[in-house]
Amino acid sequence: MKKQVNVIRLGIVLLLFAAISFIFFPNQAGQISGMGMMNMNMSGEVTTELVPSNEPSNKLNLPSILEGVTNPDGEISYTITAQQGNTQLKEGAATQSYGYNGSILGPIIRLRTGQQVSIQTENELDTATSFHWHGLEVPSNVDGGPHSPIAPNQSVNLEFTVNQEAATLWFHPHPHGETAEQVYYGLAGLIYIEDDHSDSLAIPKEYGINDFPVIIQDRLFDENNQLNYSTAYSSDGTYGDTLVINGTINPYVDVKNEKIRLRLLNGSNARNYQFHLSDDTSFYQITSDGGFLNEPIPMESLQLVPGERAEIIVDLSSYTMGDSIQLMTGNVPVLTLNVTEETTKEDVPLPTTMNTITHTADEVSPDKKMTFSGMGNMVTIDGKQFDMDRIDLQAKVGETEVWEIENTRHMMGGMIHPFHLHGLQFKVLNRNGAIPPENERGWKDTIALYPGESVQIEVEFPEKGIFMYHCHLLEHEDTGMMGQILVE
Ligand code: C2O
Ligand code: CU
Repeated sequence: MKKQVNVIRLGIVLLLFAAISFIFFPNQAGQISGMGMMNMNMSGEVTTELVPSNEPSNKLNLPSILEGVTNPDGEISYTITAQQGNTQLKEGAATQSYGYNGSILGPIIRLRTGQQVSIQTENELDTATSFHWHGLEVPSNVDGGPHSPIAPNQSVNLEFTVNQEAATLWFHPHPHGETAEQVYYGLAGLIYIEDDHSDSLAIPKEYGINDFPVIIQDRLFDENNQLNYSTAYSSDGTYGDTLVINGTINPYVDVKNEKIRLRLLNGSNARNYQFHLSDDTSFYQITSDGGFLNEPIPMESLQLVPGERAEIIVDLSSYTMGDSIQLMTGNVPVLTLNVTEETTKEDVPLPTTMNTITHTADEVSPDKKMTFSGMGNMVTIDGKQFDMDRIDLQAKVGETEVWEIENTRHMMGGMIHPFHLHGLQFKVLNRNGAIPPENERGWKDTIALYPGESVQIEVEFPEKGIFMYHCHLLEHEDTGMMGQILVE
């Protein structure tokens, strides 16, 4: 009886919220783009707004390039240690944080196509973690998902061969239910894969001179400069009001008036970004998640959802000493580029052909269909929440399949779910039957699913094992918006 009353009461409350939301946000249900800046949770509140920071500007922190040891048989070995530390993020007290081989974020792991790699992964945290290589095509026992936790003070050695083309990937923890918190405290790093083809392209590649990593995260600080995950937590995504780029607030770089390559990673728990340049000039996107696009795509704005990467070229050749241009998201600066020196290099045009990826947008009858739905603690895939003991889907290694992924719209309008699949790079065939934008016609491992949208992707698993697919809004993932596929 009590239960019934509660159910009725919940029903009335939900109806009320729906009514209020239609009064105050009449367009919400029909609104697709820009949802990221105005996400609402079940109680109808707008999530924490991003604001420009009052902190002084700081030189952009550049992650170190991890030194490997090359064994006599040609294999390269690296050591990555997850640890706790203190980082000077703001003026005043240092912030307690997590990092790989340091106090926050991690070094860049450089890999080459065809190379044999061994990585010693070590956990010096006082809680279990795992090491997931987002975008890397490796067997599932190397993939570092929720099946592979490493207890405190334990280490595990991983061996694999790099079997994919040049790309900017990343690594982060993936222990079930704890991913969001560990990423929030600072566990994330970049992986650069290079190959003969990327070596040969006429694009900027001098690290820290004209080729910069840009890890974009939003954080909420308390009055003691601490990140308090449980206070900042929201089941529809933990948002901060302050941008932290490579662990730097209000960052700038000094550059020459030449082409500048920015390797962007949305490493945030939940926030979607819409990047543009402060003078509204266009830039070129040259890669998607898994490698080079066929040609550079001129763009004036670029959206990245959590987990997505894009390399862009900002051409400063028509600027002069003393000029400044900012990469922005909305009205908030992400990174300031100060032109402080005249280049002595000849300005060569960008390559016109960078890859040969074929693309068809034809709608086909899918081999698999899945539905992402809900918000808050009610998020599901196909009506279910994650169960480590349940295999949700099966596939055969080396077989091409078309998946249709739907994001249901509900009475509150719904929200973007960033879809991510482990173990491979896929192609986006069509969105609601239409050809995807040009910058999505390359290799992808993470895509935005808009409310009410249905997306067809083409997948082919190169390796066997159990792989995860999930929402990369990390709080949704931790709540259970995740499934697993057995590949044999
Ligand atoms: Cu970047 Cu399953 O995660
Ligand atoms: Cu989601």
